[in-house]
Amino acid sequence: MSRFDEVHARSLSDPEGFWSEAAEKIDWSKPCEQVLDSSNSPYYRWFKGAELNTCYNLLDRHVEAGRGEQAAFIYDSPVTNTVEHISYSALLDRVARFAGVLDGLGIRKGDRVIIYMPMIPEAAIAMMACARIGAVHSVVFGGFAANELATRIDDCQPKAIVSASCGIEVSKVIAYKPLLDHAIELSSHKPDHCVIWQRPQAQASMLPQRDVDWKEAEAVATAKDCVPVAATDPLYILYTSGTTGQPKGIVRDNGGHAVALYWSMKHIYNVEPGEVFWAASDVGWVVGHSYIVYGPLLYGATSVLYEGKPVGTPDPGAFWRVISQHRVSVLFTAPTAFRAIRQQDPEASYIKKYDLSCFRTLFLAGERCDPDTLNWAQDKLKVPVIDHWWQTETGWSIAANCLGIEPLPVVAGSPARAVPGWDVRILGHDQKEMAAGEIGAIVCQLPLPPGTFPTLWNAPERHHKAYLSSYPGYYETGDAGYKGEDGYIYVMSRTDDIINVAGHRLSTGAMEEVLAAHEDVAECAVIGVADKLKGQLPLGFMVLSAGTEKAPAEIVSEVIRKVREEIGPVAAFKLAAVVSRLPKTRSGKILRATMRKIADGEDYKIPATIDDPAILDEITTALQEIGYGKPS
Ligand code: COA
Ligand code: AMP
Repeated sequence: MSRFDEVHARSLSDPEGFWSEAAEKIDWSKPCEQVLDSSNSPYYRWFKGAELNTCYNLLDRHVEAGRGEQAAFIYDSPVTNTVEHISYSALLDRVARFAGVLDGLGIRKGDRVIIYMPMIPEAAIAMMACARIGAVHSVVFGGFAANELATRIDDCQPKAIVSASCGIEVSKVIAYKPLLDHAIELSSHKPDHCVIWQRPQAQASMLPQRDVDWKEAEAVATAKDCVPVAATDPLYILYTSGTTGQPKGIVRDNGGHAVALYWSMKHIYNVEPGEVFWAASDVGWVVGHSYIVYGPLLYGATSVLYEGKPVGTPDPGAFWRVISQHRVSVLFTAPTAFRAIRQQDPEASYIKKYDLSCFRTLFLAGERCDPDTLNWAQDKLKVPVIDHWWQTETGWSIAANCLGIEPLPVVAGSPARAVPGWDVRILGHDQKEMAAGEIGAIVCQLPLPPGTFPTLWNAPERHHKAYLSSYPGYYETGDAGYKGEDGYIYVMSRTDDIINVAGHRLSTGAMEEVLAAHEDVAECAVIGVADKLKGQLPLGFMVLSAGTEKAPAEIVSEVIRKVREEIGPVAAFKLAAVVSRLPKTRSGKILRATMRKIADGEDYKIPATIDDPAILDEITTALQEIGYGKPS
């Protein structure tokens, strides 16, 4: 048995022993009574009875142990020409004072705080300050529109919202405050306060009584100590796309999360405390939560917080400059970032300008990693490129090549093996396991390991229905794929209407809701089509209402604008076609998969259940008009 097989087998045969050993790396204010509470299966809880404070584990204990002078964050912002090293001591001081600001605004343990921020240190400071006082943060990605923010405000009912005057997208200044004010106008729930970080690039106008200037408040605040919380108390809610316009509020607990993320830093990423780890993502996504903020800081590493893009800030050498300047050991990003670099610098000539001798490993996740991109990155960087698979729900990897246990061969197209703690199976519709090489639903046997989501905020029934009901005893990942004879997992596609655009998870259902609300649209469907840069792009089909007087092109631009206004620029919805009918089965189900195949120029079989096959020719013609599908 290999070392990896041994560790994996032990994690499944003795999960309580395995994770209680891992839990020794975390400082608890009260030990647990039970490592795994299975009394209410299929709802499991880790470290029942234990108490801790996540912020204490991120900051205070490192300062107490003599790590105070080490940089916790390196804030690197090519868009503002800033590089700032923030030591663990300095960060602790700022977080404790901002916790004092929140406390002064009446925020207590269990209260929710929304954080709507660009990639600046204050975003992470706000997250940790919430953790310090036991408040539950919910970070909303800056690329979402006011309407999406309003939906989240209504769902988690925050007492306060923390935001900034603006974000900077390459050279565009995006004013956040008008979006925030508009979201609060739209929402039924109203927060008591908004705390605003004013940036020099834009001045936010403030509403007396409700709005608080961050810098002024921090200057006079008293530092607040850590409030112990139960291991099972929520640390954060992170909304992610579901199949409808209503996002799912993924809940993360405190105890299991700290244990799993600490464990992952060594065993998956193989970094040491004190080394520089860089997750080039955004705090608005789960990767940003787990590997810009929580994982590296729990572990005593230095984390790079990068406010820039892989290209354009200023050139396709941006990543190599950051790695070399800050002596980064491990970089984690999405394959799309590498496709963007490659598109602009196919020979990676910019690499030659930098000393990358510090760099050990590239980790990729967030979307399916095409072998071509993996091979290109490996060839140019001359380091192992590790694909790993996970989801907002899981908070850390389900499948990976665990470099800190035993490096396994890299197989392009596969995120390697199920990580210790995970029992991954491939099931057919009949709930039976598929043979090696056969595609089925990828599920994970319950209980899931620590750090995974215990429930959905305000929606326990939806949690059960979406994840636990189709395959009793298992967690349904929503991904389809297969396992090889060697246990390597291949994640091929989603089984639902979720698409992945530039590593961002989006719901086509949510976009369909926006299109359908247009007065001239009688019927619509949105699918994800293949894109060389972003992996997938959304494409809408619309059947117009009879008697509409507007030109189709006008309606197309109106719906494109509406999706941007209501979901946000991140949806990247720029393609739509007007058709006279949608292809359906005889029972009325829209044949989205067939439309996707036509758009991607793949061969397809006419579904036996189709109502009128002639519609597929109409779809082909409409797609050809916008440059998709096989040319005629
Ligand atoms: N605030 C406001 N707007 C934002 C935003 C933010 N935080 N983030 C993105 N946007 C906007 C972009 O400016 C763009 O607007 P546009 O339509 O006016 O051009 C739109 O949302 C789409 O963004 P994106 O899909 O990211 O495209 P992009 O062209 O700006 O960048 C990549 C493409 C590939 C360079 C970028 O997506 C990237 O670096 N991805 C890899 C890292 C990553 O984000 N991973 C996520 C999970 S690991
Ligand atoms: P998110 O919740 O935004 O992290 O998106 C999770 C989804 O992204 C997964 O369910 C997969 O569909 C996809 N995904 C993430 N990482 C990978 C990967 N390494 N390989 C294939 N698909 C991935």
